[in-house]
Formats: sequence, structure tokens, C-alpha cells
Amino acid sequence: MKLCVIEGDGIGHEVVPAAVQVLQQVIPNLDIHKANSGWDTFQETGTALSEEAIELAKDCGAVLFGACSSPSYPVEGYSSPIVKLRRIMETYANLRPTRYLPVPTSREGVDLVVVRENTEDLYIGDEQTAADGNTGTATKRITRYATERIAHTAFRLAQVEGRERVTIVHKGNVLPQTDGLFRRVAYEISHGYPDIETDELLVDTAAYWMVKEPTRFDIIVTPNLYGDILSDMAAAWGGGLGLAPALNLGDKVAIAEPVHGSAPDIAGKGIANPTATILSVAMMVRHHWELPHIATAIEDAVYSSLSDGGTSDITGIGSISTKAFTDSVCDKLQ
Ligand code: NAI
Ligand code: MG
Repeated sequence: MKLCVIEGDGIGHEVVPAAVQVLQQVIPNLDIHKANSGWDTFQETGTALSEEAIELAKDCGAVLFGACSSPSYPVEGYSSPIVKLRRIMETYANLRPTRYLPVPTSREGVDLVVVRENTEDLYIGDEQTAADGNTGTATKRITRYATERIAHTAFRLAQVEGRERVTIVHKGNVLPQTDGLFRRVAYEISHGYPDIETDELLVDTAAYWMVKEPTRFDIIVTPNLYGDILSDMAAAWGGGLGLAPALNLGDKVAIAEPVHGSAPDIAGKGIANPTATILSVAMMVRHHWELPHIATAIEDAVYSSLSDGGTSDITGIGSISTKAFTDSVCDKLQ
């Protein structure tokens, strides 16, 4: 089994080695290949994601990506390397689970997965500024092809995880040509899974319920932009960004990456929470390498360590370091 490891920027240099330490504890013969990518790499080399890094990632088929810093203003030659890598590797599904974790900031009873379409919608990068500089336009693209495969992913996940319901989230009332297509195609696919209940919500209503009563959700399937936003909202119920995992899945390829970013405010201090990244690699183990018993062992060790204490983002007083938390998870896996 091969894994391409890209730390990225900021706390990526702390949480990624932590997750690798846990992986090596349970899969000692894992073949690890490191590559550089991100904003710092761009500053040093002029390229955020080199051709060699892309080839390595493709060759491994499995990537662990920390996070990269991206400026919120245009920089000539720079675009987010993680977005690019997801596209190149055709990881068309982004699975973002949120479940109750034994920390004070988590909401009891929450157990949901946002299945986010990962290749199109407003994120295709087709954005222009008019000649006068005063009008920006972006293209929103929804296709039958991409909607079919993301809907299949959501319904198959429901079957594999023994879940009951898939909720299609869209804004088809305002965007009938795009979100309306997504809704229609997702319903078509649902007919092939008669054992799973299907319903729908407009995205604004879904946001309301995500705040008001998150326990009502099971699996959500939704286009890229809404999935990005709703999964971050959901992450708050899991206990915070430091605890929120994600897996990008394609056909025989996967990229594990925490939901959070490079957290420059705490980078280099040794206090970042590695839970999100460790749970992301557990998802890789479960869904890509198909070793569910090992994935469950990692998750149980993380839950148990969280019950014993955690990093400062969740516990405040009496908090432990990234290293102490990671060592605790590894001890429990011995
Ligand atoms: P962020 O997720 O990096 O941080 C938001 C807040 O959560 C900060 O206060 C941070 O300290 C805290 N936090 C995040 N992860 C944590 C962890 N593991 N342990 C403890 N605390 C944690 O989001 P922000 O600040 O909006 O963005 C910072 C940079 O990250 C930006 O350059 C942004 O573009 C980039 N970013 C990258 C992403 C990616 O690579 N997938 C995703 C989101 C943001
Ligand atoms: Mg996001």
C-alpha cells in the first residue's frame, strides 16, 4: 500500500506527521512518499503543485494532504493546489461526516455525512472580471454525469453504513436549469435504492435545520458550494474544525484531508488538534484500502483519547499538546 504525504502549510506540518505516526502504528509496512505543495512551496519555487508531486500522487493513488494557505486576492500563477489535485485525481466525491464526539463542544445525537460533489458547480474556476473592473461573473455548471455518480456514492454509502435516509439539498426553485437538474437526476438515481428513504430540502432551509436540529440529518447529497458551507456548519456540532475529517473519493483513488485550513494563528506552537487528520486517514483506511476493522480501531483509540483530554481548542484548561495526544492514540493502538 502506497501513500503520498503532503503536509502543505501551517499546522499541516504538525497534524500530518501525527496522522502518519498513527497509520504506521497499525500498518507498519505502509510505503510512504513525501511531496511538497502549498503557498510556501509556491513562494520558494514558483509552483504550488509541481508535476513531480502530481505524478507521485497519481502513482500512489492515495494522498494525505494537510492544508494549504491561499490568499483571498488574486496572485498571478497561484491557485489552491488541493482544489487542483482533487480535479486531477478525479476525486468526485467529498465525504464529510460529523458525529458526536466525547468533548464538551460536541452535540449529542448528531451523526450525519455531507456527500459533496467535488468537481463542478461554481468551483470550476470559470470566473471573469469585465473590462471596466466593476463586474465579476462566475459560471455554475451542473451535469447529469457528475450528478449521477455523486448520487450513487451517497446511496451506496447509506447502504454500506446501514443508514436510512438521503436528503437532496439544492436551490432548484431559483436555479431550475442547474440545481433543478441536480435534484431531478438525484431522484432518478434514488429509484435504484428502494431500501433507502429519499427526501429534499432547499439549501437555505437545510442551513436553518443544521443550526436548529442537526440530529434530523442522516446523509446529505448536494452540489459543491452548498456542501462546502453545510459541512463546515455541521463541523461545529462535531466539536469544532480541529475534529472534522474528510475524504475525497474517486474510482480507486482517494485524498484524505481535514476540513480545516492551515491555521496560521496557532501554527508552530505544537498545540494543533490532530484529531481531524487522524480521523481522515481512518476514512482512507475504511473506504479506500477497505480495512474497516483497522479504521474502527483508529476511531475507537481517538474517541478514548478525547475522553481522557484533548488539545486547547476543545478543552482550554488542562489541555495537552499535539504530540501528547498523538502518543495517547498510538498507545491505545498497541
Ligand atoms: P482555518 O481552518 O485554518 O482556521 C480557523 C480557526 O480554527 C482558527 O482559529 C484555527 O486556529 C482553528 N483551527 C483550525 N484547525 C485547527 C486544529 N486542527 N486545531 C486547533 N485549532 C484549529 O481557517 P482560516 O483561518 O479561515 O484559514 C487559514 C488559511 O487556511 C487560509 O489561507 C485559507 O485559505 C486556508 N484554508 C485551507 C483549506 C484547505 O487547504 N483545505 C481549508 C480552509 C482554509
Ligand atoms: Mg471549506
